[in-house]
Amino acid sequence: MSSERLVTLLSALSSEQFVSGTALAEKLGLSRASVHLALQSAARYGVEIERVTGRGYRLLEPLSWLNAEQIQQALGAEWQIEVLPEIDSSNAELLRRPSTLKPFCLAAELQTAGRGRRGRSWSGALAGSLLFSVAWPFFGDMTRLSGLSLVVGLALAEALDRCGVPRVRLKWPNDVIVDYRKLAGILIEVQAEANSPCRAIIGIGLNIKLPALVRDEIDQAVVDLAQLGVPVMDRNLILIELLKSLEYWLQRFAEQGFAGCRQEWELRHAYQGETVRLSSVDGGFVVGRVSGLGDGGELLVETDAGIKPFTVGEISLRREA
Ligand code: BTN
Repeated sequence: MSSERLVTLLSALSSEQFVSGTALAEKLGLSRASVHLALQSAARYGVEIERVTGRGYRLLEPLSWLNAEQIQQALGAEWQIEVLPEIDSSNAELLRRPSTLKPFCLAAELQTAGRGRRGRSWSGALAGSLLFSVAWPFFGDMTRLSGLSLVVGLALAEALDRCGVPRVRLKWPNDVIVDYRKLAGILIEVQAEANSPCRAIIGIGLNIKLPALVRDEIDQAVVDLAQLGVPVMDRNLILIELLKSLEYWLQRFAEQGFAGCRQEWELRHAYQGETVRLSSVDGGFVVGRVSGLGDGGELLVETDAGIKPFTVGEISLRREA
């Protein structure tokens, strides 16, 4: 069974009462055996289901599903919102879609080929992540987008503060971290077309409650909202807060560039004033003290040879022990 069907099936279940296999089979036009098999596969996505003979199925914990209408209502007609049960990657899907003049948010319950930065993959959990992309039109040439990914991180960090997430900081260029563990990632892909504004496809993955099997797939230190003790009854409310914050910061960025957002960014930087090691893919590295950020979001590092700027690219940042 496709995971799209599994999402439909799981959304027909609740944690409060049992639903019989017959009722589920009728609802989805499936045999009871297929319902049973599909619900068995839910464990692979970290979703636990209780089955009691004669009563049916029940979720062990409530799941929160995304609701396009609820999000649309909160954001108003200025936005276009779409929620899909499954997609390869919400970034890839938006790149396939035609441009719109309005900001367009496409969220998915599941991604089968989620993309991360530097060609890595991105793992999410069914109903345990927020996986979404926003297509945002920018007028003017692409050089004005320098520092965009940093501003997106700032927008997320501010919104997460408002959602009650403690100690949210940023790691240059655009990881949202808590206690040096990654809570959210950002992947921006820019599309320029002749005679129309350029579009930034801003992909965001936020960890809400990752099951152990998803966490095991990830090769870096991660954290989720559940571990931080933030109760998430409704993922829609978090997504709405993130989108409102993006709207504010992207407009400010369009008007003022990164320089107009720099002060707030530096205040959030977990590595501001710290001694760091910057490593490039070819094995080279530089050690120095982070002194701040330049007008385009470049990292300024005090080294023995003076202050050097580093641009967002194939370079990674670590605290120097
Ligand atoms: C990173 O490596 O830090 C960036 C991760 C970005 C993941 C998000 S999930 C939604 C959107 N769709 C994708 O395929 N990737 C981004």
